[in-house]
Amino acid sequence: MTSESAARRVLVFDSGLGGLTVYAPIAAARPDVELLYVADDAYFPYGDLSERALVERVVALMTDLVAQGRPDLVVIACNTASTLVLGPLRARFPELPFVGTVPAIKPAALASRSKLVSVLATPGTVARDYTRGLIREFAGDCAVTLVGSARLARLAERELRGEYVDAAEIAAEIAPCFVEQGGRHTDQIVLACTHFPLLAQKLAAASPWRVEFVDPAPAIARRVATLLGPVGSGRPGQAGQAHFTSGAPVSAPLQKALLARGLTISSLP
Ligand code: DGL
Repeated sequence: MTSESAARRVLVFDSGLGGLTVYAPIAAARPDVELLYVADDAYFPYGDLSERALVERVVALMTDLVAQGRPDLVVIACNTASTLVLGPLRARFPELPFVGTVPAIKPAALASRSKLVSVLATPGTVARDYTRGLIREFAGDCAVTLVGSARLARLAERELRGEYVDAAEIAAEIAPCFVEQGGRHTDQIVLACTHFPLLAQKLAAASPWRVEFVDPAPAIARRVATLLGPVGSGRPGQAGQAHFTSGAPVSAPLQKALLARGLTISSLP
């Protein structure tokens, strides 16, 4: 017998590789937990799915993942899913804590001096009532520009796979975020898709003027750590497991990028 309590298990979930931007600070903050990263790449990109198809897919897949992985906590590291599916997931699994990723409109509005704020997201997240509700509630004193990019999440996947990404294409996708009005300029851009911080350097380089790109991942990691409670002694520093629902072969550059984040490829436990 050992007095050591079993490691807690956390499932970090996204449509693809974007959730790695949330996974990394969680892994750094909590080396004591067992981490499983699941990319539903069979259905990527979620931003193109109808709301009904997305709810059905995520609830059905999560039912399998919870049964197989038995997590103590689930992080939906995807704005496109969180802004729609958190309610149905919490109803389906009332005992299981879910932490979502939703557009960081509140901190951006608070930090903005020009009061011109943009929200860069997938077309799905831009269309959600949830997103519009956040703007009404937290950004009443700002002019908020919603920009739905159909391409940027794909470009971020290419970047992480070490493939060529055209800077001009990025510049074209983010151009509508940069608003000039009566001598004021947009000063905060909410990265409301977990894929976008993968392009951080290229986004900064493609910006016509300096802005703050708001990435909520550190705040999400802090929330996860709080919910998990005091750091335990179970399995410190173990590699996390990454699972891809498509079952497609993982290229060497992607394997390298996963390893750099402390992840090895697995089939589900
Ligand atoms: N990473 C997802 C998000 O945060 C979206 C990518 C997709 O369209 O699947 O919204």
